Amino acid sequence: MFSHLIDIQRLSNNEISSIIDLAMNFKNARSESIVKDKTACLMFFENSTRTRCSFELAAKKLGMHVLNFDKDNSSFSKGESIKDTFENLYFIGIDTVIIRHSENFIIDKILKNISYPIKFINAGDGNHAHPTQALLDYMTMVEKMGTVDGKKIVIVGDVAHSRVAMSNLALLKKFGAKVHFCAPEYFMPEKPEDYDVIWHNDIKEAIYGADVVMLLRVQNERLEPETMKKCGDYAALYRLSSEILEKYSPSAILMHPGPVNREVEITSELLDSKKGKTILEQARNGLFVRMAVLNNLLGDTQ
Ligand code: CP
Repeated sequence: MFSHLIDIQRLSNNEISSIIDLAMNFKNARSESIVKDKTACLMFFENSTRTRCSFELAAKKLGMHVLNFDKDNSSFSKGESIKDTFENLYFIGIDTVIIRHSENFIIDKILKNISYPIKFINAGDGNHAHPTQALLDYMTMVEKMGTVDGKKIVIVGDVAHSRVAMSNLALLKKFGAKVHFCAPEYFMPEKPEDYDVIWHNDIKEAIYGADVVMLLRVQNERLEPETMKKCGDYAALYRLSSEILEKYSPSAILMHPGPVNREVEITSELLDSKKGKTILEQARNGLFVRMAVLNNLLGDTQ
């Protein structure tokens, strides 16, 4: 089994399937914790509702102890180094650190600095990876379709800033999905040709016949001033409504990692409709996927 959860690329298909199977078992109350009394430290340098709350609840449901590291009231603010911070946390008794940070590959950088065996879980780093989001999205798709093999999965929106898009792409390709990205030029990465996807600019063309339509949040807090100036037309061109979805992709599963910008990526009317319910199911599945990740990462039976 994996020794840290950093990104999807470093998981094998078997490891991913094992996490999903265990998450399904936790959901159906068919598995028991093997990590009681282990200790997790939540270290969120960026805001979060779903990831932070579901990791905390997952750990508590598994009988673990949970510490919330408050960066503003920690000795980071007095200049303590990364090395000293994590080594002291290890000696205090932390088994795993669940970290969200604005810097790409933050866990790899921390691991170069410490010599004690804390296990790290990536709860989102820059625009690099959000592996537990991709896992919970995959679990939701598997529940609804059985498999993603050969399915048309269309990811729409702010691809350039999206760690969710990158982790979903990595996972979905491993399991044989046909992945399409749809974005205006200002939300595309610098070298779109480097991505193993089919690109679209037109949302109606992109979602035609899709099995899954996944909308991405417009990440206002990450937009460069130039992009900010250009993206005023986003809602007019890309906001998904029931009318458009019904016309071009009536049987598609509708997904969004959250948080949603109502009336920007999606109309409130579609979000609050029966189709929008899957987005809440994704959040729910996050709890079970995170229980499975903690159990597999920290369990003694690895
Ligand atoms: N999807 C997601 O990561 O949501 P939060 O930022 O609320 O954790």
